Amino acid sequence: MKKNVRKAIIAGNWKMNKTRPEAKALLEEIKPLVANAGEVEVVACVPFTNLETAIAATEGTNVKIGAENVHFEKSGAFTGEISADMLTELGVEYVVIGHSERRQYFGETDETVNKRTKAALAAGLKPIVCVGELLWERECNITQEVIARQIKLDLYDISAEDVKRTVIAYEPVWAIGTGKTATADQAEEVCALIRSILSELYDEATSQAVTIQYGGSMNAANCAELLSKENVDGGLIGGASLKANDFNTIVQAAVNG
Ligand code: PGA
Repeated sequence: MKKNVRKAIIAGNWKMNKTRPEAKALLEEIKPLVANAGEVEVVACVPFTNLETAIAATEGTNVKIGAENVHFEKSGAFTGEISADMLTELGVEYVVIGHSERRQYFGETDETVNKRTKAALAAGLKPIVCVGELLWERECNITQEVIARQIKLDLYDISAEDVKRTVIAYEPVWAIGTGKTATADQAEEVCALIRSILSELYDEATSQAVTIQYGGSMNAANCAELLSKENVDGGLIGGASLKANDFNTIVQAAVNG
């Protein structure tokens, strides 16, 4: 991480886990543990139903709250969807967009990721845009093309100022929830590639300012090595974010890294 140049962000992605009382209990455990995180941004991205509880539970602390998705229209006949304004009105700061589970199971495309990212930015949210290759894409040696395509399409027509408020999460799909982590070198290689694409699309200074996270089975045991890499500026953590001590170990690795 280059903490002197860009923000380190450790974000939990709780996915479809925790009822409201469970969410409150987990945050109560996390809060004192991460209170000394200093410059490292600590975020919990929680199910929509937990947002209000999570915001109330973390008020006045250094834990920021994010949602796990957002719709791109402002309002209207979109049954079951949640708009960016609905999130900001609650006090939500971050939103995960284009997670591979949404791409795989819910028909998310780069076009909709781009629309959601623009809507989030327009409302003042900080999007965490997820990209990553499938296992067979890596095996076919097209990781670079896949990532370049996703970054270019997902960030289409987004200004340099806005991209500086955008977090990119590199999450190789084969590493998510599988216990198979990318090696620190594999993570660094793709995070550096993402930064070079940002430099091409924008400019060097802009690319240096963007936080690029690694995600995919990051845990208490492997976080220090991953976070020691120059272009890995944090983590998007699934399973390990549901255990306060493990999540805190990752936060502390970022603090010390
Ligand atoms: P995992 O999930 O840490 O459980 O692999 C990461 C993610 O999906 O963001």
